[in-house]
Amino acid sequence: MSRGLFITLEGGEGAGKSTSLEFVRQLIARRGHEVVVTREPGGTPVGERIREILLHGGSDMSVDTELLLMFAARAEHLAALIRPTLEQGRWVLCDRFTDASYAYQGGGRGVPDARIGALEDWVQQGVKPDLTLLLDLPVAEGLARAGSRSAPDRFEREQQAFFERVRARYRERAAAEPRRFRVIDAGQPIPAVQAQLQAALEAVLK
Ligand code: TMP
Repeated sequence: MSRGLFITLEGGEGAGKSTSLEFVRQLIARRGHEVVVTREPGGTPVGERIREILLHGGSDMSVDTELLLMFAARAEHLAALIRPTLEQGRWVLCDRFTDASYAYQGGGRGVPDARIGALEDWVQQGVKPDLTLLLDLPVAEGLARAGSRSAPDRFEREQQAFFERVRARYRERAAAEPRRFRVIDAGQPIPAVQAQLQAALEAVLK
């Protein structure tokens, strides 16, 4: 039995990640692949408890604590869900993964790449996404779209400049790894975004 594929979805605030996630899940399932949808931080009972701390813990959490908690949740996620699922030949579709740590903790908070890289090597042991879909949108547009949602979490309370750094880092990573990343213009109407997602997936769905 061949290993399943590991697909991740990334993007900033208000980029339409939830709608896209469901669209991609359906595309994969319709082609006859079993697919498990999950998210980070979270995806396991332990990971979801860590997520609660990360999103709603005190606003004074240190940057290192934040980074280490992201990777603690990720270690659990890989051990309990991602690795076993891929080994069983099923696909994993994950709402955010390590690229988010480079974008938010690296770009947003200024953690050096070497620290994130060391944790990535330790925790992932070679497991990497086969395909990463980046929903890209100008920050002001995304914030305007996301603005109407209820009680902001620790990340959503950040200023526009933080999200500009996050977006820039995502785009840099996509440019550096063009074989793994597909950049989706999330500013287009939903049908056009879905057409881009479908085109991006054709290569792996064939
Ligand atoms: P979500 O709003 O997409 O569910 O993601 C939760 C927040 O966690 C989001 O603001 C991005 C942030 N995040 C990081 O800062 N680093 C990470 O490694 C991950 C996975 C998420």
